[in-house]
Amino acid sequence: MAERSRAAAQVWSDPRFAAAWLAADPEGGQDLLVLPRLIAAELVAEEGPQPRLIVDVAGGAGKFLAVLLDRFPEAAGVWLDASPTMLDQARTELARFGGRVEFRPGDMTALRAAGVPGGADVIATSRASHHLDRAELHGFYREAAGLLAPGGWLVNLDHIASEPAWDRRLRSVRRAFVPPRPAATAHHHDRPLPGIEDHLDGYRAAGVDDVDIAWKAFHTCLFAGRTDPAAPAGG
Ligand SMILES: C[S@@+](CC[C@H](N)C(=O)[O-])C[C@H]1O[C@@H](n2cnc3c(N)ncnc32)[C@H](O)[C@@H]1O
Repeated sequence: MAERSRAAAQVWSDPRFAAAWLAADPEGGQDLLVLPRLIAAELVAEEGPQPRLIVDVAGGAGKFLAVLLDRFPEAAGVWLDASPTMLDQARTELARFGGRVEFRPGDMTALRAAGVPGGADVIATSRASHHLDRAELHGFYREAAGLLAPGGWLVNLDHIASEPAWDRRLRSVRRAFVPPRPAATAHHHDRPLPGIEDHLDGYRAAGVDDVDIAWKAFHTCLFAGRTDPAAPAGG
């Protein structure tokens, strides 16, 4: 297992930390990420065919997967995360989808080993890949892209590194819109986080050239890329 990924999985497997983080996660109008999750769903809907299999990697309580399953009622979902606390929470939050969701405890850098099936139409992840270094991030993109059906979407909503002056400005201005989290929920980040180029390079190195930043606010980006619909499956 990749080093930074393993360290992050360990932090998030501490039930007290994970529960405190969940309790402080903004909801409703305070959640800036409502819009990019919806944008991701509409991007996928835009070009069809409608997805049948959606995977949410490091899915936490299942916020992203819930948006996608609501938008695509014919789709089944696979939830993957390393934290037992998140598994409990996701089972509760996603209970309304019944048998549409399969829960796969596992590491985001070992998707196949965790039983994530191939032929996915969407692999999404949010607020997790910043735990990885560039090599691990590229490994994640490579494995995820290999599990996508032709024309499948690889979507990542995550925090990125900016130049120091911009990082300071953006984090400061963000406080006017999102209340600061309690100190107990602050978690360790190996800095620098991957930057925009690390992500775009990772998509392209994984063979997903059709990629862009669909949304950005402060230091958070929605990366969305689509595999070639004409490519052989599993390529
Ligand atoms: C900040 S939370 C985000 C949860 C969810 N994706 C969201 O946006 O609401 C980070 C998530 O990544 C998970 N995580 C951290 N390291 C992981 C790893 N190596 N493999 C799988 N999941 C991991 C944590 O358990 C946690 O659920």
